[in-house]
Amino acid sequence: MNLKDEFINYFVSHGHVLIPSAPLIPENDPTVLFNTAGMQPLIPYLLGEPHPKGKRLCDAQKCVRLTDLDSIGDKTHHTFFEMLGNWSLGDYFKKESISYSFEFLTKVLKIPKERLAVTVFAGNKEIPKDDVSAEIWMSLGIPKERIAYLGVEDNFWIAGDIGPCGGDTEIFYFRSDEEIPEVFNPKDDRWVEIWNNVFMEYRKNEDGTISELSQKNVDTGMGLERVVAVLENVYDNYETSIWKEIIAAIEKISNKSYYGNEVAMRIIADHIRTSVFISADRAGIKPSNTDQGYILRRLIRRAIRYAKKLDIDTNTNWMEPIALEVIKKYENYYSEIKDNKEIVLNCLKEEGLKFNRTLEKGLREFDKLKKHLIGDIIDKDNAFRLYDTYGFPIELTEEMAKEANLKVDTKGFHEKFLAHQELSRTASKGKFKGGLMGHSEIETKYHTATHLLNAALKKIIGPHVHQKGSNINEERMRFDFSCNHKLSDEEKKEVENLVNAWIKEDLPVVCTTMSKNDAIKSGAEAMFIEKYADVVTVYTIGSISKEICGGPHVKHTKELGHFKITKEEASSAGVRRIKAILE
Ligand code: ALA
Repeated sequence: MNLKDEFINYFVSHGHVLIPSAPLIPENDPTVLFNTAGMQPLIPYLLGEPHPKGKRLCDAQKCVRLTDLDSIGDKTHHTFFEMLGNWSLGDYFKKESISYSFEFLTKVLKIPKERLAVTVFAGNKEIPKDDVSAEIWMSLGIPKERIAYLGVEDNFWIAGDIGPCGGDTEIFYFRSDEEIPEVFNPKDDRWVEIWNNVFMEYRKNEDGTISELSQKNVDTGMGLERVVAVLENVYDNYETSIWKEIIAAIEKISNKSYYGNEVAMRIIADHIRTSVFISADRAGIKPSNTDQGYILRRLIRRAIRYAKKLDIDTNTNWMEPIALEVIKKYENYYSEIKDNKEIVLNCLKEEGLKFNRTLEKGLREFDKLKKHLIGDIIDKDNAFRLYDTYGFPIELTEEMAKEANLKVDTKGFHEKFLAHQELSRTASKGKFKGGLMGHSEIETKYHTATHLLNAALKKIIGPHVHQKGSNINEERMRFDFSCNHKLSDEEKKEVENLVNAWIKEDLPVVCTTMSKNDAIKSGAEAMFIEKYADVVTVYTIGSISKEICGGPHVKHTKELGHFKITKEEASSAGVRRIKAILE
């Protein structure tokens, strides 16, 4: 049984439209590094914008969660995972949602209901206790003893700090050979959460207040790997068919058995799989010291350290056979994995060899440090030296310190790091936490300015210029585009002038909905076609720009003010990057 197909088939047969997974790395959203849930790309629709595909959707979404990084190595957590989800955008609510979940689990997957238990929201000052969900569960045959009421900490769901949210009901499966206790205790870790149904009827606002949404939505998320483990009747996700070949490749290269080396092998498997997906994303992420590039670097370097623990010769291209298994597993589902196979393999090889050169010395340095340490704290200067000279991400130093019962002055390290790197405000703060914020007025303006810049570059540099990426925050816009040369001062000036001329003309920005094919036929620009649904929104600016885009945008270009390029630099081979501001 292929769970992904069964899930999609079931919900499609109940009126849901399958939508493609959005890219792992969100476009035009500076507040999160990765998609962390299936609902993330759907936030505008949960807030009330009509979705071009209707009110019932389903998909399998690529996700990366960094909050679980410390748990990697156990049986149930993964940094990258696929989340199966079904949504009601102002259509059905609790009754149908719970009934669908129950029917899918017990009838399609044939999971005995005796192995299931659920939690429901206990309510708080603002939101009432969810007796309705509990009643529905009982009507389906889940006994009272298997229903636990939990508070905001556990049964209220929101991505980040603000946005659509609501109480949820979570479904647990008893994953053990032992006798199933009559009374469900959610703290007993033999009960594993497999599915979360969120009843998104509220919106958390910037000022911390909660208001009701104009529509009642359902957002669900099922952890694919956990349910596969249930279906295959194993208690360790890494023993499922998903990981089999990947773990076997690690066993082969280390010449060791998985059993006895589970933690190291799980970390290596998880981190290499995640690194494959990050480096394959069409955003073109390379290992670096900021943002997604830094996460990629951290994951690869941590995998290398664990490989050393298994006595793998890390001076070789040891990650390749493991990555190849990952690629083989996913290339038919996700075209970027197939298309960017060489990029992925090169990335792992180069970053691996680069770090390997300094890792050995760094480990010796760490040992020396340990020996001569007075007290139990690695100070900021030493932490920074391990980072700067030996390439140890601070998290790696922290992990090694923890293993040696030491602490690290991480705060001091960050201060030093910021002073050295002038790491951007957004990268150092909110972004690592995840969470999508609404688009502010200035961000909306930057969206429109991005389209104007794209059009201007095509006019001045040439029609071969294509967008390669874009990123917007409150302070600036960033735009990556294909181009083989550094722009001259004149070219930059011309681009700037053209954008400003268009702004002055006060061109109308018009949004239309059409089929993907019509959009392409009409000449609309699109960054990557395959990720769009069949029906798309197209933004047209006067007669100068037409792009497939989810928005949001201003109504008239004059709202933008004055456009100024602040920087032009190389981004990667054949790709240039412009940073610009609106004044
Ligand atoms: N958005 C919900 C989750 O991620 C379904 O658990």
